[in-house]
Amino acid sequence: MLKPNLLEAKKRKGNIETEIYKFDESLKDLGKNKKYFIKTYGCQMNEHDSENIKAILESMSFTETLDMMDADVILLNTCAIRENAHNKVFGYIGRVKHLKEQKPNVIAGICGCMAQEEVVVDEIIKKYKWLDFVFGTHNINNLPNILKNVIEKKEQEIEVLSYEGNILENMPVKRDSKYKAWVNIMYGCDKFCTYCIVPYTRGKQRSRDKDNIIKEVEELVKNGYLEVTLLGQNVNAYGKDLDSNYRMENLLEDVAKTGIKRVRFVTSHPWDFTDNMIEVIKKYDNIMPYIHLPLQSGSSRILKLMARRYTKESYLELVDKLRKNIPNLALTTDIIVGFPGETIEDFNETLEVVNKCKYDSAFTFIFSKREGTPAATMPDDVTLDEKNERLHKLNELVNKYSLENNQKYLNKIVPVLIEGYSEKDKSMLMGYTDTMKLVNVKGAENNIGKIVDVKITDVKTFSMDGEIVNN
Ligand code: SAH
Ligand code: SF4
Ligand code: F3S
Repeated sequence: MLKPNLLEAKKRKGNIETEIYKFDESLKDLGKNKKYFIKTYGCQMNEHDSENIKAILESMSFTETLDMMDADVILLNTCAIRENAHNKVFGYIGRVKHLKEQKPNVIAGICGCMAQEEVVVDEIIKKYKWLDFVFGTHNINNLPNILKNVIEKKEQEIEVLSYEGNILENMPVKRDSKYKAWVNIMYGCDKFCTYCIVPYTRGKQRSRDKDNIIKEVEELVKNGYLEVTLLGQNVNAYGKDLDSNYRMENLLEDVAKTGIKRVRFVTSHPWDFTDNMIEVIKKYDNIMPYIHLPLQSGSSRILKLMARRYTKESYLELVDKLRKNIPNLALTTDIIVGFPGETIEDFNETLEVVNKCKYDSAFTFIFSKREGTPAATMPDDVTLDEKNERLHKLNELVNKYSLENNQKYLNKIVPVLIEGYSEKDKSMLMGYTDTMKLVNVKGAENNIGKIVDVKITDVKTFSMDGEIVNN
């Protein structure tokens, strides 16, 4: 058994190397005639990890089922960012227990960020003995062996490394889309915002070698992909951990030069957003005019307590610069309300920044205490009722601007990458604009997988309707 350890997870040391993924061919039939079911929680990092996990399982001859009741192997890829993410997973684990009572041969386990938490794994060992395996974010590559051990030994297998492992290249991947792809450019995070668990669950910042990133994008272009999203907790800090001067602006430029039709990147920390990056975004038409720029709070006092390294003023200056330089920019954000000690004046400053930035949309959260983070021990005297009220007020303001921004699109013609059928109305298609607006589109199905001109005919707060215009 290899358990996670909070103190070890805080440490930042050791050389990171690049390692080529190797598959033990003797395990290629382990999953013959068996099905796997995977449920993914959390951010794009987890979504993309699940794409790797699926491909690894399929290299062992497992096939995917979307129905948990039909599965031989059940895997929950979990998120630890807030308490309610935890609760959802533990709720689901309860359902899995039920199923295992009916089908005792089913193997079930968890992976992802919750698996990196010492408190969670301790609880699993104590109370969830029937869960067959737990593995962390640093050893996805070891999944074939973990499954083999579970099947052979029939005892709980826990393998979570607190230290980040090497950067793995050539991991197989089963992408969810044929048109747009996630591409990791870095792993982990060294920012240690005081509320956040990610630096502990994902380890130290490790930038991937630029040549490997560009090779992956070139391969995607060859395979007909139209869009890539460069992924990392802090993409603007790309390269800072390497021994070279090659930074995010250089990488963005090289990725744009591959000729892929659309380049996006998430998430941008305001601290590392350089003027050079803005120049590159401006220069290349295939870098999309869409930036997710988490604010977290509009109060410089709270930002300091959060250790965000910028002030309200410097954030507003950056937004101003972005708007001046990138025409048609769509700006989105993340905001936390009710951080320990947030006064009504602090909260009003957040509203003031929202009024100035007029975001296209925002993910808003109530502060959630994460065990082991500095903010978990900060005095917090604001009631939950008050926090809920602030969240409600903030959401109303955010939604007002979402709708106002969307209204500017009415009757305009915009480029949309058509991804497939609309979820709410199968007779319609759906896709995203260059500015990341969701559009339900009237048009023929042979437009799927193309970037087409769409005339916007109706707008709502969270989506738009449109029809394809024939050129
Ligand atoms: N790396 C990204 C954020 C990743 S987590 C960045 O720095 O911007 C996504 C969002 O979850 C954060 O932006 C933050 O708004 C929210 N979040 C993180 N920890 C939280 C906590 N303890 N309570 C509430 N929200 C939190
Ligand atoms: Fe968390 Fe801050 Fe790192 Fe984002 S930058 S992942 S909020 S510690
Ligand atoms: Fe959640 Fe881990 Fe992402 S905590 S938000 S899945 S990095």
